[in-house]
Amino acid sequence: MADAVVHRTIDPIALRRAFGTFVTGVTVITTRDCDGNPRGMTANSFTSVSLDPPLLLVCVAKAAASFPAFNETRSFAVNFLHEGQVDVSSVFASKAADKFQSVNYDRAHTGAPILTDSLTWFDCTVHNRIEAGDHIILIGQVQAFGTSPSAPLGFCRGRYASVKDPLPAGWLASQDMIIGYLVEAGDRILLRTDGKGSWVLPTARRRKADSQLVLDGGEALTLVPENTFLYSVFDVADSDPGYLIYRAELSRESAEAALPDGHAFFSVDALPYERVATHELRAMLRRYARERQDKRFGIYIDTGDGGRVAMIDGQSQSWTQAASE
Ligand SMILES: Cc1cc2nc3c(=O)[nH]c(=O)nc-3n(C[C@H](O)[C@H](O)[C@H](O)COP(=O)(O)O)c2cc1C
Repeated sequence: MADAVVHRTIDPIALRRAFGTFVTGVTVITTRDCDGNPRGMTANSFTSVSLDPPLLLVCVAKAAASFPAFNETRSFAVNFLHEGQVDVSSVFASKAADKFQSVNYDRAHTGAPILTDSLTWFDCTVHNRIEAGDHIILIGQVQAFGTSPSAPLGFCRGRYASVKDPLPAGWLASQDMIIGYLVEAGDRILLRTDGKGSWVLPTARRRKADSQLVLDGGEALTLVPENTFLYSVFDVADSDPGYLIYRAELSRESAEAALPDGHAFFSVDALPYERVATHELRAMLRRYARERQDKRFGIYIDTGDGGRVAMIDGQSQSWTQAASE
């Protein structure tokens, strides 16, 4: 208080600056207008409101061009941005007519545009709309959501701020993570015996190169380099190490070669669920078999409330290609 400037009259510019000292994340809120066109704007007025029922809010300026769309819609989405999305924030904070041309988006539950690349998204039906001065408070009831382990984009005093990574450097080592591979070859999945009569995923400390995977037993497999993705992050119990699971595809030559000792292929339709070592692994394999049919995969992270999944399509493209689109 001693060093603070005290304002006894409420000057809007000074007030905006004072509000701006509150550190927030950055979201893009999206909806569809009455013609079905996607509309969206950058917003940092997000607040989580209630868990039961699951409610959140954002404040939408009446002066915004997309205000009528948000004021009339029955559904909208909130997409939290990750640290690599300053450009997305700038586009959606602009008045550009074609904001959605610079992003990929999809439908999840309500039909509101969900940005394919985001930190976290919530697909909501409108629960309530409250008049609040030059804004409306839009309260949404969450119908579906997804999240990823990326670092969030922060905002404070009118600038983008870096927020410490929720999975900081060294996190894997400190958690003594086991890195497992869900390796697919055609319609088959590669599993390894745990020596106690159960099946587990093959594990490896790291890939030597994009195409070469050296398993913990020392055996080498070759992978299709562009088809390795993060699939799941979870802890089995406090006393156990966590698991980081990648999904990968075996190269044709490795698929046809003799398998390392203790490894076997199982058809995706006939996985030995009753002999899979843990409940979590069983649930993950079931999810994988299901998602494989739709060719849409989710990245799973376990959380205190039962885990969250962010959906992605199964296709990869190079970073340079994706960035230039
Ligand atoms: C970081 C950041 C946060 C913002 N938060 C909000 C907000 O919460 N509510 C709002 O109405 N506008 C907010 N804006 C401003 C809108 O994004 C901006 O007015 C945009 O041009 C609105 O788009 P439209 O006119 O096409 O609807 C924010 C802008 C930035 C850069």
